[in-house]
Amino acid sequence: MNNRKMVAGNWKMNKTLQEGETLIKELDKLISNPACAVVIGVPFIHLTTACNLLKDNKFIQVAAQNCADKASGAFTGEVSAAMVASTGATYCILGHSERRTYYHETNAILQEKVNLALENNLKVIFCVGETKEEREANKQEQIVKQQLQEGLFHLSAEQFKQIVIAYEPVWAIGTGLTATPEQAQEMHKYIRELVQEKYGDLAASTTILYGGSCNPKTAPELFSKPDIDGGLIGGASLKAEDFSAIINAQ
Ligand code: PGA
Repeated sequence: MNNRKMVAGNWKMNKTLQEGETLIKELDKLISNPACAVVIGVPFIHLTTACNLLKDNKFIQVAAQNCADKASGAFTGEVSAAMVASTGATYCILGHSERRTYYHETNAILQEKVNLALENNLKVIFCVGETKEEREANKQEQIVKQQLQEGLFHLSAEQFKQIVIAYEPVWAIGTGLTATPEQAQEMHKYIRELVQEKYGDLAASTTILYGGSCNPKTAPELFSKPDIDGGLIGGASLKAEDFSAIINAQ
């Protein structure tokens, strides 16, 4: 059970290289012997620096926040999964609602990205979640099911072992509106049931993170729920003390 636990940071488009270096050094000092896996999702330009600075820290792993849906070639401005892996990063966050909304990433595109990340030995933190309108129309389960079925459920059981799922209700991201622990638990349980239907016993070892305005105050109660294995943390991952306090809530 305990080995499902994880706290992952998502810096989004924040921090210059120098600011990032400072934050990574602070994290390196603060995070020693955490009770869960720790991942930091940094902008592409920070990947190499982060991996170098953390090479002696066996607790913190490094993630990209995206990768291209093509393997290589004439795709100006894109960064491939192979390039991400070559920095030493071991994870890739995919399907974040900001990527889905602002960069029009569909479940079909995400399926390609997931495949390329796995082919390059990256583990994937795959984000799902409904919008406010979808929740108001009571469609949250239908939406999350479709995102999982179309983005992930083509994988073999062996491949699925490399997947972490992050449930992030879009209405809770960066808004200060955290889902109640009960609302989050209900969805996490539903997600685990869907994984159980598709992959059987693997569901019991699948990490399912909650994301959306998770902070040092809200984390303890969220993390106490049986199907919430940790968090994907945006804003609060930009301050070493807050991120470390959330890790200590595990
Ligand atoms: P937030 O972001 O913690 O700032 O709400 C979470 C996320 O988008 O991953």
